Amino acid sequence: MIKALINDLSVEVPEGTTILEAARQVQVRIPTLCKHRDLLPTAACGICIVRNKGGDKMIRACCTPLETGMEITTHDRDIVDVRRSTLELILSNHPNGCLTCGRNGECELQTLAADFNINQESIKRYVRDTPPDLSTNAIVIDFAKCIKCGRCIQVCQEMQNVWALSFLERGINTRMAPAGDITLAESPCVKCGQCSAHCPTGAIVEKDETAAVWEALHNPEKICVVQIAPSVRVTVGEAFGLPPGTNLTRKLYHALRRLGFSAVFDTNFSADVTIVEEASEFIERFAHKRGPLPLITSCCPSWTDHMEKRHWDFIDNFSTAKSPQQILGVLAKTYYAQKLGHDPAKIFMVSIMPCTAKKYELSRTEEMYASGFKDVDVALTTRELARMLKQSGIDFLALPDA
Ligand code: SF4
Ligand code: SF4
Ligand code: FES
Repeated sequence: MIKALINDLSVEVPEGTTILEAARQVQVRIPTLCKHRDLLPTAACGICIVRNKGGDKMIRACCTPLETGMEITTHDRDIVDVRRSTLELILSNHPNGCLTCGRNGECELQTLAADFNINQESIKRYVRDTPPDLSTNAIVIDFAKCIKCGRCIQVCQEMQNVWALSFLERGINTRMAPAGDITLAESPCVKCGQCSAHCPTGAIVEKDETAAVWEALHNPEKICVVQIAPSVRVTVGEAFGLPPGTNLTRKLYHALRRLGFSAVFDTNFSADVTIVEEASEFIERFAHKRGPLPLITSCCPSWTDHMEKRHWDFIDNFSTAKSPQQILGVLAKTYYAQKLGHDPAKIFMVSIMPCTAKKYELSRTEEMYASGFKDVDVALTTRELARMLKQSGIDFLALPDA
């Protein structure tokens, strides 16, 4: 075990524990920006600097293991001044557009600037004039907001094994972009959204489509219906300060009806339909030798896209069953429309999904128009739903569980 002092507090941690992790054990919070709990440190930002007694330079707490005998100071006047200067330098390359940013209120850079009371420009601003990447219908990259932390690159390369993103050029010109300096749509990107989920700023965000849903909800000619994916009910609470995993199914049904949806469908139902379809297909292939085995699921559009791009020799092994999202879209615009005597052209189907790839799926092939219309009109992420609930004035957490 390693024994050391952090701000004069004794700490004992296993070998290899970083100063950042050790500090948390004695309730000391060192500010960070590039470090994410899911990822290895990239040590790119310098916000987490601390001082070891007797050392002649400041060290980065996120990537430096604590050593026996260290006497670490995490906060003194010099350290805080250096952190503030570092932040000011980062902000001098960042556009001043918080009010119109998709991450406004959830941006780690914005939060740090507020914590350090940075409320004026002390360094002349220079922002690289690079147009955003709007090439996909799922992810938007605003290069000007990138702080070069490297999180998105690590998650895309190491966790997703897609390698769509990379750092290009060197030195002061270093920038994050799709590898090969092509558009995201041309890259191997599978639209999984993990880069946007890990980006600390508004540089990578899901394509926001809440305006289209509001417009449909306010249009008396439209019959708006919605489906919610299984995970949404246990993740939406995080946007309202609840712990991950809090089950809000009933509040969610209630809130969606209040937003103006005339029917709330549960994607759990169409997931069962997909399973029945896949089971029938498996029996056909296994018992009657009609098709190759193994049978591989095709429910996830990211997975399907990845297989089509990298392992096309397995395409015949894919199940031909639609995903739960698309099955519910078709059912809403055929069976449900007939049962209730609705004109399917007037039905506006919204899906609330955990992943940006579901946006991409909506117009992936002509099979996504099996009802004769676009089967699902808009897919929103859980984040977008939370945004709509906050805009609506509904006191979500106070809604009855009925
Ligand atoms: S959406 Fe997924 S695959 Fe595409 S760039 Fe982001 S992390 Fe990589
Ligand atoms: S796009 Fe976001 S996650 Fe990627 S390097 Fe830039 S700031 Fe970091
Ligand atoms: S958080 Fe340690 S260098 Fe960025």
